[in-house]
Amino acid sequence: MANIINKSFMLIIMLSLCIILTNYVTKAHLPKFREATKNDGSLSFLVIGDWGRKGEFNQTFVATQMGNVGEELDVNFIVSTGDNFYDDGLTGVNDPAFTESFTDIYTAPSLQKPWYNVLGNHDYRGDVLAQLSPALKARDSRWICLRSYIIKTEIVDIFFVDTTPFQDKYFHEKDHSYDWRGVLPRQKYLSNLLYDVDRALKESNAKWKFVIGHHTIMSAGHHGNTVELVAKLLPILEANNVDLYINGHDHCLEHISSPHSQLQFLTSGGGSKAWRGDVAWWDPEELKFYYDGQGFMSMQVTSTQLDVAFYDIFGNVLHKWSNNKKSPNQFYASSY
Ligand SMILES: *[C@@H]1O[C@H](CO)[C@@H](O)[C@H](O)[C@H]1NC(C)=O
Repeated sequence: MANIINKSFMLIIMLSLCIILTNYVTKAHLPKFREATKNDGSLSFLVIGDWGRKGEFNQTFVATQMGNVGEELDVNFIVSTGDNFYDDGLTGVNDPAFTESFTDIYTAPSLQKPWYNVLGNHDYRGDVLAQLSPALKARDSRWICLRSYIIKTEIVDIFFVDTTPFQDKYFHEKDHSYDWRGVLPRQKYLSNLLYDVDRALKESNAKWKFVIGHHTIMSAGHHGNTVELVAKLLPILEANNVDLYINGHDHCLEHISSPHSQLQFLTSGGGSKAWRGDVAWWDPEELKFYYDGQGFMSMQVTSTQLDVAFYDIFGNVLHKWSNNKKSPNQFYASSY
């Protein structure tokens, strides 16, 4: 009798070990990059989205102002919220659009820093593996593009999430084809990704946590809310006390404040074509700022202070928002 109990016990232990090992092997950690803060302990960066149009639709004017603000703030790096190359991503690693829309446009000295990119839906319409290829880094050493990853610093962890595969409609569209290499089977890809993001957020002990994705969670713009992300990603962000969700996709600049959590929704999708003119009504208590034209965003972070600013193509500051955090669970926000 004791022998049988002993054997069952051993079997259960071994099965549990197998499950733990399988999880460990199949659910890879998100790749991590490290960025050091400046000598004064602060960090600053610019955020741009929806940009690659060979300089057209005011892309070059946005680039000029990014150069000025980048110099003024001595930015550590640049973040792109995706839709890097219009209309259909890159045709391959030798596509001249990479030079025409990126290297030849963002030429200011202050922008010669790492560019951390995610993919947008338009990027998935081309050769998606080209944008992820190290061959692009050989063409322009600033280029960093992975599907999902983390930048770790002393004061803030920034989590980049590949949002395009979440949206059902791209899998049924007739007019466009998407390059789903590396994504299928889709449900497994999404559940692994959500698991990885949740685990990485839980493991993070950074003072600030920002999440970047191409698609909106909340937006008063053309595309509106992304229901799949509201259902699947938003609960994870709220459960892990994420401070900011930063996206593109809607070609505008926007700040939505959540009434029931500290999470703020920031859209920086004004890198080129804008002025869509179809902003929806939104409760002004939540919609702090909406600008339908071109521009970009800056972020300045210290261990206790966060300063966000939005700029138009003339370099005017359109909106600012600040947040103080004395201890991880305390926050005081001010908007002006
Ligand atoms: C470029 O920006 C100016 C100023 O915001 C705007 O009036 C103009 O319509 C923009 N051009 C395009 C093509 O969007």
